[in-house]
Amino acid sequence: MCWSFWLLGVISAAFFTLQCSADNKHCPVTSDDAYVYTLTIPKSQELCKLQEQMESLLEQMNLLSEKVSNLQGEGGTSSVATCRKPLVSGANGISDSQITASTEYNTAHGPRLVRLNNTGTPWCARVMDSNQWIQFDFGRPQIITAIATGGRMNFPHWVKSYKIKYGNLTNALSQFQFISQDVVFTGNDDQTTVVINTLPHPITASYLRIYPVDYHAHICMRAEVFGC
Ligand SMILES: *[C@@H]1O[C@H](CO)[C@@H](O)[C@H](O)[C@H]1NC(C)=O
Ligand SMILES: *[C@@H]1O[C@H](CO)[C@@H](O)[C@H](O)[C@H]1NC(C)=O
Repeated sequence: MCWSFWLLGVISAAFFTLQCSADNKHCPVTSDDAYVYTLTIPKSQELCKLQEQMESLLEQMNLLSEKVSNLQGEGGTSSVATCRKPLVSGANGISDSQITASTEYNTAHGPRLVRLNNTGTPWCARVMDSNQWIQFDFGRPQIITAIATGGRMNFPHWVKSYKIKYGNLTNALSQFQFISQDVVFTGNDDQTTVVINTLPHPITASYLRIYPVDYHAHICMRAEVFGC
C-alpha cells in the first residue's frame, strides 16, 4: 500500500530533477511547486501510516468478534457453566489442610481462616507484595464459575483487587485470562461486604490460587469458590 506513495514521490522527484539545468540553479519548477512537493510526500506517508493502523485495527476487531462468537457458542451449549455450589466451605467443601498460602502473618492468621463465614481474624499474609497467594486444593478437577471475597470483619483490612491462577499441577498453574489479557477482579471496599465475581468463562481445575493485587492496609481476606 505505502509503496505506491513512495513510488509516486520517486517518480515526481525524477521528473522535476530532469527539468533542472546542470548547475541545478535554473529549475523550471518554482519554489512554490517545490514547497508543495516536499509537503505532499510526508502527507502521503502519514496517510499510509493511518491506513496501516486502520487495517491492523480492523484485523484485531475481526479476531475479537471471532472470539466473542466462539464464547457465545460455548455459553449456549454448556449448562454446567453457571453452576454455583460452594466448593470451599459447606457440605461440598474442602478440609482445612486443603487450604494453603504463600505466607501467614502467624498461626492465628492462617489460611484455614479464609472461610467466608469467619467473623473473626481471617487469612492474613506475612509479606505485603504481589507474590502472595491463597490456594484451594479441591482434590480433583472441578468446574469453577465464580469467586466471592470478603474483608477482615474484626479490623479494617481487605483486598481491593486480585488475579487468579488455576491448574491440575501446582507447579504448572495458568494465569486466568480473558481475550488474551490477565483478568484483575475487583475485590472488596470495606470489612464486611462480600463481593462475588463470575468468571468471564468457566475453568476446570484441581487447584485455584487467589493472588491479591491491591489491598487496604494489609493483605487479609475471606473467600469462597463456586462451581460444581
Ligand atoms: C463455617 O464453615 C465451616 C466449613 O464449612 C464450618 O465447619 C463451620 O462450622 C462454619 N461456621 C459457622 C459459624 O457457620
Ligand atoms: C484439569 O483436568 C481436567 C480433567 O482431565 C481437564 O478437563 C482440565 O482441562 C484440566 N485443567 C487444566 C487447567 O489443565
